[in-house]
Amino acid sequence: MRILGIETSCDDTGIGIYDNDLGLIAHTLHSQIDMHAEHGGTVPELASREHVIRIKPLIEKALHDSNSHWQDIDGIAYTRGPGLAGSLLTGATVAKSLAFSLGIPALGIHHLEGHLLAPLLEQKDIQPPFLALLVSGGHTMIISVEKLGTYKILGETLDDAAGEAFDKTARLLNLGFPGGPAIEKIAQGGESVYKFPRPMCDRPGLDFSFSGLKTFTRNTFNKSQKSEQDIANIARCFQDAVSDTIVYKLKRALKQTSHKQLIVAGGVSANKFIRNNINEMCKQMDTKAFFPNLNFCTDNGAMIALAGFMRMIKGQKDSSLSIDIKPRWPIHELSEI
Ligand code: KG4
Ligand code: ZN
Repeated sequence: MRILGIETSCDDTGIGIYDNDLGLIAHTLHSQIDMHAEHGGTVPELASREHVIRIKPLIEKALHDSNSHWQDIDGIAYTRGPGLAGSLLTGATVAKSLAFSLGIPALGIHHLEGHLLAPLLEQKDIQPPFLALLVSGGHTMIISVEKLGTYKILGETLDDAAGEAFDKTARLLNLGFPGGPAIEKIAQGGESVYKFPRPMCDRPGLDFSFSGLKTFTRNTFNKSQKSEQDIANIARCFQDAVSDTIVYKLKRALKQTSHKQLIVAGGVSANKFIRNNINEMCKQMDTKAFFPNLNFCTDNGAMIALAGFMRMIKGQKDSSLSIDIKPRWPIHELSEI
């Protein structure tokens, strides 16, 4: 079985082709970061128009790179939600039209399930039960996974997602968009001179709150001389605070659930400083940590092709031709794979 995956939930157009025997055989991506950077964040209308322009050449390149022909494709998986409505509509319309014209099934995939399964692109032997941390621009969640496809949310952010906090903090420090990579880079030259809070760590439970850190950053920045070193120090202390908070909550969740495996996925999982700290904690907890390859932390089509493959090989497919996206789609509503 060979599945073509289409990701268009936000501002990346991603295509992947996943094969039964060979695994991932192609993936193509167009990031709209440069286009949105001048606006300081993603502009939904521009994002959907850009998907329309980019999607066809990216599909053709993925077919070419994997030496595939249309008749080799057995199903089309696409991101059904959550995400920006216009962007989702573009991918869903292309997927359904292709599936109809080729006489093959289509299946709408949950974007976060795609992220969560991304480590399986390389490590096919990961089996539940495991704990999962999803840290992206739109979500921060700790999830218990007893069976693939059934996701029990143990904690989530009450306000900003971790990636969103990185982006907003970077904007405040004039470091550009997206903020995560920019903060990670400049933080390397920073020193731990400010005492940032560790939000929600003094309260029971597994929820997060990152909006206070943003306010703390703003106040610290306004009081500083705004020198390059000040900015590096603030970035370092902000990143330390996010990392410590995530590690603290993960440790609590591992104790609570007794899981011995942890999957960390989503854009923020590309942060090497946070990865290292999670790895250190997992060693102490006798837990194995899995991360996606750095290419598959942020949005991509490969993860959608894989999630589509895993479900379509079990016979799952969309029941109708109608285009039915879900810009809001709680992950606990999914069915078992
Ligand atoms: O998963 P993703 O591509 O999109 C969503 O589904 O939201 O995540 C994008 C987010 C952005 O907020 C970006 O700043 C963050 O991931 N990010 C990072 C890093 N690389 C990307 N955050 C921290 N450190 C990084 N190296
Ligand atoms: Zn994402």
